Amino acid sequence: MADIRSRYTDSLNFFGKHSAQELAEQFGTPLYVYNEQILRRACRELKGLSSQPGFGVNYSVKANANPALLRIMREEGLVVDAMSPGELHMNTLAGFRQDEILYISNNNAPEELQSVLAKVNLVSVDSLPQLDTLGRINPGGKVMVRFNPGIGAGHHAKVITAGKETKFGVCPEYLSQVFSLLDRHGLTLAGVNQHIGSLFMQPDNYLEAVRFLLDLIATFPAERLQKLEVIDFGGGFGIPYRKYDGEPRLDMARLGRDLHQILETWADKHGYNGRFLVEPGRYVVAECGILLGRVHAVKNNGDKRYVGTDIGFNVLMRPAMYDSFHDIEIYRGGTAAATRADMPQTIVGNICESGDILAKERLLPEIYQGDVLGVLDAGAYGFSMSSPYNQRLRPAEVLITADGTARLIRRRESLADLTVCLEDLPQECDCQG
Ligand code: LLP
Repeated sequence: MADIRSRYTDSLNFFGKHSAQELAEQFGTPLYVYNEQILRRACRELKGLSSQPGFGVNYSVKANANPALLRIMREEGLVVDAMSPGELHMNTLAGFRQDEILYISNNNAPEELQSVLAKVNLVSVDSLPQLDTLGRINPGGKVMVRFNPGIGAGHHAKVITAGKETKFGVCPEYLSQVFSLLDRHGLTLAGVNQHIGSLFMQPDNYLEAVRFLLDLIATFPAERLQKLEVIDFGGGFGIPYRKYDGEPRLDMARLGRDLHQILETWADKHGYNGRFLVEPGRYVVAECGILLGRVHAVKNNGDKRYVGTDIGFNVLMRPAMYDSFHDIEIYRGGTAAATRADMPQTIVGNICESGDILAKERLLPEIYQGDVLGVLDAGAYGFSMSSPYNQRLRPAEVLITADGTARLIRRRESLADLTVCLEDLPQECDCQG
């Protein structure tokens, strides 16, 4: 076997008893492949951040909602959030109980809030009008409020969710209005949450926001503080996407040490014995997922070498949407070895837009038609952001289980899936595709 660039997955035995090429043959491409052991390792690392009683990991399902993966997380003792009825449905399918799901709402219709209230114990609202709506629907009930701590972080302006430039959260200066609305509807403030943004590689902003939220809660009147059951600091924990450049990891040991100390001191001081949650999505699932695709054409346009694949931005949107970097491996098999020095190659998909670029002028060994490519760290915001744009079918998902075998956990979409909602489908349509 002479894969051209596979050092990283080789070192982890990522594909278990299979090769990437075998998986591509057997299940077709594009194909999301997840590794159970890597997923479990991430869950355990996060759970180990603090031994403070009540500390827990609330996985943010938007990163990846496949129920097979959610079931593994549940076995590892994680709980989950949901921010849509669809995510809630997936959580329930995976076996999460009502008290193991937090609904983090954002601009929801009253009907949605109403239906969700029957299925979860706690709903977080992130504006005064939504607090009012919830109070009208569920007077005398419990509620969580999401605050905007004013400190943001993230890999791109589009994913910073706190500070001045964001739609999220209630600014602390509205605290007295929050209390008035709670009182008007007889609501109990059972939880407080925040989320500063997605992907930080230094713990400082996160820890500062943790302190900020705890300081804010410390200003609550004692009778309100006593009724708090959950304080959720949000997610955003980054992973190093530049694996082949040896990008350093987020220092989880330091983050855990500092976080633990803050929580322990605060809980002692305020006699708090409720739950403390962190809410990561990416850190749980990004590194356990690789997207396999196949090269169908290689050509030069002007002085650029284009590698044409079946990995369009409908399958992995992150590079087109945020200019995100994902490392790429090359699997060829046989006895072929890399022939020439690395060369700049622009890897593109099969979508009808010039912005359909997976990697721009990336320095890689020469890629040939027929090669299988592996896009690393694709487990988070990969499949969950995929779409049927250009009426392309969404890919299959496969899990490499702990014993190294491959299990299909989502079949590839078919043409019938594209037409399933059409009202006036012609009778003679052959939609099995
Ligand atoms: N909690 C809330 C309320 C959130 O909005 C998010 C992410 C998380 C937790 C989890 O954040 P994480 O730990 O995964 O960073 N599509 C983007 C990321 C968007 C994140 C949106 N909210 C990407 O592909 O980078």
